[in-house]
Amino acid sequence: MAAEAYQLEDIPGVGPTTAEKLREAGYESIEKIAQSTASELYESAEIGEGTARKMIKWCISQTTDGEVSGESGSSDARVELALMNVKRLEIEDIPGVGPAIAEKLRDGGFLTIESIATATSSTLSEAAEIGESTAKKMIKWCREQADIGGFKTGTEVFEARLLIKKLRTLVPEVDGLLGGGFETQAITELYGEFGSGKSQIVHQLAVNVQLPEELGGLDGSVIYVDTENTFRPERIEQMVNGLEIEGADPQEFLKNIHVARAQTSDHQMLLIENSHELAEELKSQGKPVKLIIVDSLTGLFRSEYAGRGTLAERQQKLNRHMHDIFKLCDEYNAIGLVTNQVMSNPAVFFGDPTKPIGGNIVGHTATFRIYLRKSKGGKRIFRLVDSPNLPDGEATFLVEEGGLRAC
Ligand SMILES: Nc1ncnc2c1ncn2[C@@H]1O[C@H](COP(=O)(O)OP(=O)(O)OP(=O)(O)O)[C@@H](O)[C@H]1O
Ligand SMILES: [Mg+2]
Repeated sequence: MAAEAYQLEDIPGVGPTTAEKLREAGYESIEKIAQSTASELYESAEIGEGTARKMIKWCISQTTDGEVSGESGSSDARVELALMNVKRLEIEDIPGVGPAIAEKLRDGGFLTIESIATATSSTLSEAAEIGESTAKKMIKWCREQADIGGFKTGTEVFEARLLIKKLRTLVPEVDGLLGGGFETQAITELYGEFGSGKSQIVHQLAVNVQLPEELGGLDGSVIYVDTENTFRPERIEQMVNGLEIEGADPQEFLKNIHVARAQTSDHQMLLIENSHELAEELKSQGKPVKLIIVDSLTGLFRSEYAGRGTLAERQQKLNRHMHDIFKLCDEYNAIGLVTNQVMSNPAVFFGDPTKPIGGNIVGHTATFRIYLRKSKGGKRIFRLVDSPNLPDGEATFLVEEGGLRAC
C-alpha cells in the first residue's frame, strides 16, 4: 500500500485528538512522521516519548514496505537513527560538497557521513580528487555530525577506553609494534597476498585469546565467520601444543571457538547480525566473546559484486557489515579481526608500495590496518599502516608448526 493512502488516524493508537495535534505541528502525512526524529515528534505533538518512538517505527515501516530503500539505508537503519534523534544527513550536506564531488565520493564507496567520519584523509582525498586539507576538514565535520545525538558522553567514552584490553600474539616484536597487542573495541584488518599469513594470525589469536590475562590472553571465547573454508581445527591443536603450557587441552580450546561457514555475502552479514544471541549466551557462561573473526571479509563480496555497476552497493553492504562487527566489538569489549586478500604490485617503484592495487575495499572502515607480506627464508613482514594512535612501523615473524614465532 502506498504511503499517501494512509491517514494519520490509521497509525495505531492515534485518535482524532492526537491527529489534530500532529497536523497543527506540521505532520500532515505519515511520510513526514517517518522523516522526523523521536524528540522532534514528542516535543511538537505533545505526546509521550514512547508513543513517538512507536509512531515513527510504524510510519517508517509503512513508507518503506520493509525494503532496503536505496541510498538512505535500510528501514532498520532509519528506525535506529530516528530513535537516536539523529536525522540522516546525506553526503551533499557536507559543506563544500556539490553534486560532482558527491558522485566521486559515492563511486569511491563513501556513501554515508559515518563512512567519511572514519576515513583517513589520504584515502578520501584520492577518492574525491580533492586536496588533503579539504579532506581533513570534511572528515572533521563528519566526525562532529556523527557525534550529534550519539549515545555516549565524553566521560563515558573515556571510561570505555579505560576498559580497552590488549591481546598478545606472543611474538614480542609484533606485540611491541602494536603497543602491547591487538586492541579491543576496534577492528583490525589484516591484508596481504595469498599465503601471506592472514589466516595463520587469525588461528593463533583464536588460541591466545582464551589464555588468562597474565599470559597475554583475555580469558574469552571466539566467534569465527569462515567464508573460504580455511578454518582448520588441527591447526588450532598444533598451536595449543605449541604454547607448551602444561595441561593445556586442545579440545578445551576448540570448544570456545564458535565457527560458522558463510555461503554468500548476505549470509555472512546475517551471521554477524545474528550473533548477539550467541554473544549473550557466552557472556552468561562466563566466557564472553573477546574475538570476532571474519576470514575473509571480502572474498565473497568480491566474487559476487564483480561489475562496476554494483560497486556502490557492495561498498554500502561492506560498510554496514563492518559497522555491525564494530557494534559487537564495542558492546562486548572485544577485538574485531578481518582479513582482506589483495594483490601486491611489484611494478610500483614510486609512491606507497604498501598500497594494495585493485583491492582496497575496506581500508577506510578498520581502525588498525596491517599489511602482511612474505620475505626471504620464510620470514613474514608485519607492517602497521595508518594507525590512529601508534607510529607506523614493521616487525617480522615466522609461521612454524607450533604457531607464530619470533625470527
Ligand atoms: N603447520 C604449519 N607449519 C608451518 N607453516 C605453516 C603451517 N601451516 C601453514 N603454514 C604457513 O602458512 C602459509 C599459509 O598462510 P595463510 O593460510 O595464513 O595465508 P593467507 O594470508 O590466509 O592466504 P589466503 O589469502 O590464501 O587466505 C603456508 O604457505 C605456510 O607457509
Ligand atoms: Mg586465508
